[in-house]
Amino acid sequence: MNIVILAAGQGKRMHSNLPKVLHPVAGKALAQHVIDTARTLQPEKLIVVHGHGGAVVQSTLAADDILWAEQAQQLGTGHAVAQAIPLLSAAPQTLVLYGDVPLTSAATLQRLLQAGKDALSILTVDLACPTGYGRIVRDELGHVQRIVEEKDATAEEKAVREVNTGIMVIPTARLADWLGNLKNNNAQGEYYLTDIVALAVDEGLPVRTAQPEGEWEVLGVNSKVQLAELERQHQRNIADGLLLAGVRLADPARIDVRGTLRHGRDVAIDVGCVFEGAVDLADAVEVGPYCVLKNVKVGAGTRIAAFCHFEDAIIGPDGVLGPYARLRPGTELGPEVHIGNFVEVKKSMIGAQSKANHLAYIGDAEIGQRVNVGAGTITCNYDGANKFKTIIEDDVFIGSDTQLVAPVTVGRGATLGAGTTLTKNAPPDALTVSRAKQLTLTGWQRPQKVKK
Ligand code: UD1
Ligand code: MG
Repeated sequence: MNIVILAAGQGKRMHSNLPKVLHPVAGKALAQHVIDTARTLQPEKLIVVHGHGGAVVQSTLAADDILWAEQAQQLGTGHAVAQAIPLLSAAPQTLVLYGDVPLTSAATLQRLLQAGKDALSILTVDLACPTGYGRIVRDELGHVQRIVEEKDATAEEKAVREVNTGIMVIPTARLADWLGNLKNNNAQGEYYLTDIVALAVDEGLPVRTAQPEGEWEVLGVNSKVQLAELERQHQRNIADGLLLAGVRLADPARIDVRGTLRHGRDVAIDVGCVFEGAVDLADAVEVGPYCVLKNVKVGAGTRIAAFCHFEDAIIGPDGVLGPYARLRPGTELGPEVHIGNFVEVKKSMIGAQSKANHLAYIGDAEIGQRVNVGAGTITCNYDGANKFKTIIEDDVFIGSDTQLVAPVTVGRGATLGAGTTLTKNAPPDALTVSRAKQLTLTGWQRPQKVKK
């Protein structure tokens, strides 16, 4: 089949400089959802009709398998599809999708495609409140006769609750003729794609309909209100999927997945968490409230306390992380590592059973096993122009408030006294301290405030 995605509209009611089809649901542009679903159907040609905000739309959605048809002026949905005609293959069916209707499932589209190769097939839905939609007009026998737009409908037609979702499968061989015969003598002065239904009926071609599993599958976005509603619906669907697969969610209404969340058994997720990109939680991982995890792998049994922010990190099994821990790109933690509150780790490897429990910055470091990083420890990895590496070998103990001025190495089993500013390598199995000797000055007096 061919697939044509209509994405030329401006979306005035979004009140935004961003073209409507680029607004995100679950962190992904509306039209990207449609393109991704379209791809699973393996079309011969995948054509996007663009117009408003064309350059941004094209650069954002660019991919090798997409063909672009420009609709310079938005003269209606029929006119939009007509722009794609030169790009169509001879494949018997052409499926029309809307770039602002993101959640239609591939299964629903498959059903519509199977409704008949030599038929015109329309995805319709019965709405309690059909206002604004094109209505499906049927004869006494229930055969579809035509679609009438809200603005052109009689009172009787407006009472029909079966509406056109806009999604259609059209016999490719008839498309050019039908679109060539469209007239714009209607309330909106547009070339309506929907008018091809009556043309098909005139030719005696069967017109079939199919319905989606859920109404949300065919909801479009015209405003920020609808965008937010669709986001919640989509997140609720994802949450239900996670629950059915055995994940424990403290509240399925308070989770956001903006990518893919893979999980093992007995994973538990508290409220307010956001998962972005590819996140992988192994068996029995627990995620506390209000954590943000982006492109993160977490090993089995690791517990993440509240308010953590992790990005591009690999976390070993049985770790204890947070609250308030931050892992930045390039962090790799071995098994049973503890990273506590207000500890920031960037581009560093930390070996098994090592701990940094309070207030530290670890950047560009290689830390061995069973290392204890004291509160307030800082790797000084940056001289304003260059980054340098800190190496801390196994079984090192780093006293509180230590600065490691990189490049520097702390030998295996070494101890650094609290308050050390390490500028040279520390030898193994020895205590290294860099602070001045403690003095007590007798007779010294605190300055006194002068009373005014
Ligand atoms: C359309 C249908 C209506 C259906 C409704 C479902 C027609 C005439 N009407 O109405 O039966 O119930 O969708 O939501 O088809 N677009 C272009 N170029 C244009 C016009 C539109 O690319 O010249 C794109 C828009 O960006 C949008 C889609 O086509 O993605 C639908 O256009 P819209 O103007 O929203 O059509 P509706 O009036 O809602
Ligand atoms: Mg619309």
